Amino acid sequence: MTSNLFAPFAMRGLTLDNRVVVSPMCQYSAEDGNATDWHLMHLGQLAISGNGLLILEATAVEPRGRITPYCLGLYSDVNEAAMQRVIDFCRLHGNAKIGIQLAHAGRKASAHRPADGRHALAEDEGAWETVAPSPLPMSDRWPVPRMLDRAGMDDVRDAFVAGTKRSERVGFDLIELHMAHGYLLHEFLTPLSNQRNDEYGGSRENRMRFPLEIFDAVRASWPAEKPLGVRISATDWVEGGWEIGDSVVLAEALKERGCDYICASSGGGTGAQKIELKPGYQAHFAEEIKRETGMPTMAVGMILEPDHAESLIADGSADMIALARGMLYNPRWAWHAAEALGAETTYPVQYERSRPSTWPEAFTQIKAAE
Ligand SMILES: Cc1cc2nc3c(=O)[nH]c(=O)nc-3n(C[C@H](O)[C@H](O)[C@H](O)COP(=O)(O)O)c2cc1C
Repeated sequence: MTSNLFAPFAMRGLTLDNRVVVSPMCQYSAEDGNATDWHLMHLGQLAISGNGLLILEATAVEPRGRITPYCLGLYSDVNEAAMQRVIDFCRLHGNAKIGIQLAHAGRKASAHRPADGRHALAEDEGAWETVAPSPLPMSDRWPVPRMLDRAGMDDVRDAFVAGTKRSERVGFDLIELHMAHGYLLHEFLTPLSNQRNDEYGGSRENRMRFPLEIFDAVRASWPAEKPLGVRISATDWVEGGWEIGDSVVLAEALKERGCDYICASSGGGTGAQKIELKPGYQAHFAEEIKRETGMPTMAVGMILEPDHAESLIADGSADMIALARGMLYNPRWAWHAAEALGAETTYPVQYERSRPSTWPEAFTQIKAAE
């Protein structure tokens, strides 16, 4: 049996060993933006577990772009050194290719960690000023963000470029730009949070302009042989918001600019969203974007069964499959999926003796008992 999920996938000069991706996951475990021992452990184990690609959590390109005070950053030399230590460790022991998700939280910044309630920080809790396309808060429980003027937008663009250069120095294989989940670049895209009257608001073309400028600036400062992908919220799940048809147009524009893949996530921009959660609930967005534009896509969202992941690649819905919670639940998901699909993936030499083919007797007995 040949597995589609475990077939290599090439983008520019990068070839993934397989199409299993660790989805970016904030760990809220950084100190002043610096990766800590938690990252060493968390990313280290995921780098050795047979995944094709490991994408680091949303990483802020400037301090005010962090969601919480505990978010990872790549805006200072100290951040860069802390990140270097973790990535060197992952490279030494692991085989996964390593990407970073560069992000800016916009009006959703300056918040508590999920474990502390996710709500906005108060003044006496170290709140900072947030920025957004328009002075519209997330809800009446959130502060009004400062509307970015052109000079402010230049600062954000320059921060993305600086983060890109740092990512190159650290040695990442791939960058994913975070244009999803109600953070700054998504805030520009959707009319729910962008009510500007200038050339960056109003029509869809205008709302796409700043996110596309960021894409161009990052692409221009990232080596030509390295892939640059984009995660979007394919829909806001709200009437009058951003919709899948808009995402197809955005994907087409990104494709023209040299984008290497679209990861089709959704929502996050408003508390009014109505999402029907079920296995693979966002996969049809990846399928539609791929069908309409020919762009490679990454599907994500409640994909847990190896057969499900395999079928999404086999039927042409997506080129890569990202798992988040499933990877936390079972960090060896790729080993188990490879076994279930009759495929091979990598083990570190230290753990080679756990590979089922090296002690088949145990597995034969488990299968017989099933
Ligand atoms: C702990 C945690 C942290 C997350 N952090 C991020 C993030 O930094 N960037 C992002 O784009 N999505 C983030 N997500 C969303 C996941 O990447 C993924 O899209 C979502 O959880 C759906 O996939 P799943 O059903 O496999 O968990 C996070 C999800 C979890 C569970």
